[in-house]
Amino acid sequence: MTDRPPIVVLLGGPSAEHDVSIVSGTAIADALADAGHDVAQVVIDLDGAWWWLPAGHRRDGRPQSVYDDPALLGASGPTTVGAAIDRLAAADPAPVVFIALHGPFGEDGTVQALLEAAGVAYTGSGVAASAIGMDKTLFKRLCRGIGLPVVDWREIPADRWAADSAAVRAELDAFAASAEDRRLMVKPARLGSSVGMTLVHDPSELDGALAEAFRHDTLALAETYLPGARDLEVAVIGSGAKLELYGPGEIVSGHEFYDYAAKYTAGLSETSTRAEVTDAQRATLKKIARDAFRVIGGDGFSRVDFLLVGERIVLSEINTIPGFTPISLFPTMPAEGGYSFTDVCIRIVDIAIERHAARAGRRLSPADLPR
Ligand SMILES: Nc1ncnc2c1ncn2[C@@H]1O[C@H](COP(=O)(O)OP(=O)(O)O)[C@@H](O)[C@H]1O
Ligand SMILES: [Mg+2]
Repeated sequence: MTDRPPIVVLLGGPSAEHDVSIVSGTAIADALADAGHDVAQVVIDLDGAWWWLPAGHRRDGRPQSVYDDPALLGASGPTTVGAAIDRLAAADPAPVVFIALHGPFGEDGTVQALLEAAGVAYTGSGVAASAIGMDKTLFKRLCRGIGLPVVDWREIPADRWAADSAAVRAELDAFAASAEDRRLMVKPARLGSSVGMTLVHDPSELDGALAEAFRHDTLALAETYLPGARDLEVAVIGSGAKLELYGPGEIVSGHEFYDYAAKYTAGLSETSTRAEVTDAQRATLKKIARDAFRVIGGDGFSRVDFLLVGERIVLSEINTIPGFTPISLFPTMPAEGGYSFTDVCIRIVDIAIERHAARAGRRLSPADLPR
């Protein structure tokens, strides 16, 4: 056994990335349990109810769909969010929560805020960094503000599109015409897994693409399409001034772009933990990844994604809770630094424990104010 507090892994979640999160969360829980830690697992179902899996639960090769009905796994629940947070806050000894959720609710600051309000320690970025990391428009505005190379974009709020689609269409046409490639990549602002994204080849496809993005979010963005771009990813682990960077890894998509099917259909895309880039490019990618992580105020870990167009490096997005499956690039890239999957999990837990301790001592009460 170790002297770390009990670890509670949150997995599932009411988002499109529920299934990926089950794979990530069970892999993390199994690794931490194998390393001798006291691990509990809480599945959040698609309705947002929380379920405690039986003590000592292991995935044992079960298909991920089994987790759709946690009761069948002997889980206790359903518990409301409020009751679940109360249970975590009252637990003795106090646990550290490993948030293995992806997408809205789990990765966007919502769960982080609930845990923060209850004084419960949790892994990864805090409320603000999580929210910014999830919102592609806020992220790009911040990065552009410090001079990082992001691809140009326009933002389209759903209400503006509804009220004045002719003007929006004209603006986007002009935007597309001004770029080196007339095609646009239309996306919902706050989602992942390429859900709701459409490559708009010509203006006739714009309405359909925006309708699709607005099915998922009230804000869409249209980016200049970067043809033939390579997908590179850098792993960031650490806190404050002490950051470690690994990669870049590379994904070779089996589709026109790295869409949902390309991401999750076995065998359709290939990954490499060591992309073939020059030493200078490797250094630049790591520097930009560090800057992007810092500018959002990231903590613990993130994966920073790039598009490489010829020699041109473009910062694409940050994922504050990247895929954490045993074959995901994020937890496997640190192998170059001698870190196993388990080591990565433990490092992330330790950073969470340190941050929680550092915060606790900094809470002011009215009596602390100058008189
Ligand atoms: N502007 C673009 N030009 C070319 N390809 C893009 C562009 N934006 C996204 N892609 C492709 O689509 C994939 C998913 O886009 P991304 O913005 O990362 O969304 P998600 O958050 O859903 O992962 C990227 O990995 C890349 O392959
Ligand atoms: Mg992405």
